[in-house]
Amino acid sequence: MKQIYLDNAATTQVDKKVIEVMQPYFSEKYGNASSQHLKGQEAKRALEESRSVIARSIGARSDEIIFTSGGTESNNLALKGLFFANKGTGKNHIITTKIEHDCVMNACKWLEEQGARVTYLNVDEQGFVDPEDIRKAITPETLVVSIIHGNNEIGTIQPIGEIGRICREKQVYFHIDACQSYTKARINVKKQNLDFVTLNAHKIHGPKGVGALYIRDGVKIEPLAHGGRHEKNLRSGTENIPGIIGFAKAVKTSRNSDIKKMEKLRDKLINGILKIQNTNLNGPKDENRLCNNINVCFNNIEGEAIGGYLDAYGISSSTGSACSSHTLESSHVLKAIGLSDLQANTSLRLSLSKFNKEEEIDYVLEVLNKVVGKLRRMSPVK
Ligand SMILES: Cc1ncc(COP(=O)(O)O)c(C=O)c1O
Repeated sequence: MKQIYLDNAATTQVDKKVIEVMQPYFSEKYGNASSQHLKGQEAKRALEESRSVIARSIGARSDEIIFTSGGTESNNLALKGLFFANKGTGKNHIITTKIEHDCVMNACKWLEEQGARVTYLNVDEQGFVDPEDIRKAITPETLVVSIIHGNNEIGTIQPIGEIGRICREKQVYFHIDACQSYTKARINVKKQNLDFVTLNAHKIHGPKGVGALYIRDGVKIEPLAHGGRHEKNLRSGTENIPGIIGFAKAVKTSRNSDIKKMEKLRDKLINGILKIQNTNLNGPKDENRLCNNINVCFNNIEGEAIGGYLDAYGISSSTGSACSSHTLESSHVLKAIGLSDLQANTSLRLSLSKFNKEEEIDYVLEVLNKVVGKLRRMSPVK
């Protein structure tokens, strides 16, 4: 049976070109980047070249990039590191939104137990936070505004340029979680006044377990892991050289034409699905939507049931973020845009990658029509 992977917001297939450049760093080039000998220096060179690739891609300097184990760690390091570096200064207020990824939500909840005050801002029915709400929420105690750039469930791309201007004007730090938007939406740390940017590799055809945190030059954070003083003493631990090399290659192989391709497939899939009766799109329907995100409610039938049938047809989909799929709670993101628990449970997320093809979309639409028709016939509520 053919396999169609439409869960790229959870993770992506590692690009063959990425695997190719990683390979030698497992076999012959296995040095530790902290070692002084040739093998170590070879690893160190590769590490620094990769750092400059990541830095350039967001308009940063190489020494402003710290490698981590992924988005979760980068988000935790940014928020907790900043909070602990400012302990005792009276700056203990964090502003975020109700549609953050669990790793920001749960880091904020934990920080509340450590004495932080956190404001979780509302978003509108398409998932946008109003920059003016951010301005109003800022107080003299505010330390940082932390916003998810591209939403992992409904694809909303936030107006970070505008938010960045407000944060700089009010002199509060601005952190974005760009795991879903990286290489898909514009990120420029100078033009958008960003102080922290969370990035990871596995959403962009790189390996799992690798990420980065941009920390603007001069901004102080407290490290969370103490050890051998790697990564400017902000993230101790022997660097994952093969992973980091793969991360940089994934960035180098991403193309603007991939975005255009995904947008075209996304719109075809959205328009095709919306022709099915009693469906509606979650998230925006314009250029402020991630090029690879589709999230739809098939009213009166459960998203889980559709996903199960799609799987049987070889199509991988999701009903929410992969991280929270083990809980039975309905999505906090869908609830934040105004859906009831019942409606939220009828949602299905399909997320594309540069590897998807137009004929796959035709097949998915054909299967969806069949499956939804069948489930609707079985459902007591039409
Ligand atoms: C928006 C967002 N932030 C953070 C993460 C966590 O990243 P990682 O899986 O690299 O820890 C993810 C991925 O699940 C994500 O989509």
